[in-house]
Amino acid sequence: MRVIQSISEMQQIAQAARRAGERIAFVPTMGFLHEGHASLMREGRLRSELLVTSIFVNPTQFGAGDDFDCYPRDPERDCTLAAAAGVDLIFAPTSREMYPAGYQSWVDLERITLPLCGASRPGHFRGVTTVVTKLFNAVLPHLALFGKKDFQQLAVIRRMTLDLNLPVEIVGMPIVREADGLAMSSRNAYLSPGERHSALCLSRAIGGAREQYRQGVDDVSRLRAGVLAMLKGEAAAVVEYAEFRHGETLEEVTTAGDNTLLALAVRIGTTRLIDNCLLGEEN
Ligand code: PAJ
Repeated sequence: MRVIQSISEMQQIAQAARRAGERIAFVPTMGFLHEGHASLMREGRLRSELLVTSIFVNPTQFGAGDDFDCYPRDPERDCTLAAAAGVDLIFAPTSREMYPAGYQSWVDLERITLPLCGASRPGHFRGVTTVVTKLFNAVLPHLALFGKKDFQQLAVIRRMTLDLNLPVEIVGMPIVREADGLAMSSRNAYLSPGERHSALCLSRAIGGAREQYRQGVDDVSRLRAGVLAMLKGEAAAVVEYAEFRHGETLEEVTTAGDNTLLALAVRIGTTRLIDNCLLGEEN
């Protein structure tokens, strides 16, 4: 498995693979890899001849009060996990390589980036869409895999790919959870043992809403009250948002259906956790 830092070298390898008729699959990440990332890689492996993952903690998607400086990093462990998942090549550019002096270009989407994480993290999605476009232009993939864990991010990337005619197939993958239900995340590393326990309120609240919906409750204000009550039952939890929205446009809904998204962002101590589900889906 090779590690490449240079954009032009990455492009040359991708172009050579394309000339040889190989299909390139791409899994963008910020490292500190876990089983959620590995599930994307294994699916990419099945669908390609060349599997590339990127590891780049993208400064432009972090806001002023965010955790850029302390974002967890473990490059050696990342290499081991990526190799075990079948990755051929890690693209790990430096910040200077991605954003050299004089940099001033941005990809910015409108409505779909405004609610949920876009409201609580201004500028976040501009950083994500810009870096993903730049990574696509370096890796030149046929397909790229993203987790539904970051549901809004996936919806934004799908919209951008369509709007800008990017020749990349976007594949959405199920949320991978710990045995007790907590959605895997690099940020789970911040949680103390007590907080790790409190963090279960997110998946519990999602399970509760799903159950209510299965039993026939489709009034969003009722479903939302149930979710907030469950989250408030956890003293350490501070709710940033708990919203029901359309599963593609992310617009607000008042009546829930199978394609309704329940999206949560909750702070446990200083750690911000997100989780979600589509009410009609198992994952
Ligand atoms: P990161 O948080 O490292 O996540 C990389 C990919 O792994 C994303 O597509 C994310 O949705 C997926 N992922 C994370 N946890 C998951 C889980 N528990 N189950 C399934 N998939 C999971 O998302 C980013 O990095 C960045 O914003 C990035 C797209 C790389 C742009 O910088």
